[in-house]
Amino acid sequence: MRDKIEKLLAEIEQLAAKKEQEIEEIRVRLLGKKGTITQLFDEFRDVLPEQKRELGQVLNKLKVAATQKIDELKVMMEEGMEAEDPQYDLTKPGDNLELGSRHPISVTRAEILSIFNKFGYAIAEGPEIEDDWHVFGALNFPPEHPARDMQDTFFISEGENPVLLRTHTSSVQVRSMENMKLPIRIMCPGRVFRNEAISARAHCIFHQVEGLYIDKGVSFADLKQAILLFAREMFGENSQIRLRPSYFPFTEPSAEVDVSCNICKGAGCNICKGTGWLEIMGCGMVDPNVLEANGIDSKVYSGFAFGMGIERIAMLKWQVKDLRLYFENDVRFLKEFESVV
Ligand code: DAH
Repeated sequence: MRDKIEKLLAEIEQLAAKKEQEIEEIRVRLLGKKGTITQLFDEFRDVLPEQKRELGQVLNKLKVAATQKIDELKVMMEEGMEAEDPQYDLTKPGDNLELGSRHPISVTRAEILSIFNKFGYAIAEGPEIEDDWHVFGALNFPPEHPARDMQDTFFISEGENPVLLRTHTSSVQVRSMENMKLPIRIMCPGRVFRNEAISARAHCIFHQVEGLYIDKGVSFADLKQAILLFAREMFGENSQIRLRPSYFPFTEPSAEVDVSCNICKGAGCNICKGTGWLEIMGCGMVDPNVLEANGIDSKVYSGFAFGMGIERIAMLKWQVKDLRLYFENDVRFLKEFESVV
């Protein structure tokens, strides 16, 4: 019996390297109902009286040692430590951390903002969940006006001034006019939402950047110059722009801006559909009604505004043909922009 006890004590010492499941198996084997140690206690009943004292002590020592060691190992396992595992080598080099890269939309957004930052434009942001007044009312869209149909809107509530998901970043113009001191020169980047069927050219979520400059004596010539400088920084120094008359309720006059195609340099290709021009944004002089609705004296102040879709600018810059790629987060697509920082 003494031999058996000694052998088991030695075995317990080596338990440290065993794995969780093995530990449980060993516990059952040693201390379970039919476990070896449990059986030794049964055998102990038949031990000669003169040996009882001495053997009793070692037997108890064995039980305590086994229980303690098993408990200890279980705790170590739970803490995720590989107890004295010979494979656990602290000197091994660590696993490689896969570093991601910035999303092309973030890169484009940052580039647009940094260009206008050089011209002195600050950044302003506003909520994505807005009310009708900030998205439409204050921007000279009367209720029921057909211009509202251009932006199919997700409404969240009904009533006189319903809550909705903003359809454009022009709402931030309104918030800035309410909160900022004149003159105002801001860029407003952000996510916008429209009830569009998702296709290669349209999405229900996309990003815009809005520009607004209000001061005394701001003219259409200033607007044209700001956009020309932007186009040259963004698409190359030989870029040209052209303005086509358009309509937005919040600007008068309004224009659509085209930049000369940076692929074919204006000669005509399938990207610009043979025209030599790519549409990049809408713009115009802030309508006096908008200034007045926001408490600005339109006889003293004037201003211009413009708005562009970040996805569109990014598509033109990198010739991405399908808008959905920006939202699918396919790493193969995103990796293509790793070097564009
Ligand atoms: N908010 C317009 C849209 O989403 C874009 C736009 C056009 C913004 C002209 C402007 C602007 O500030 O002057 O379609």
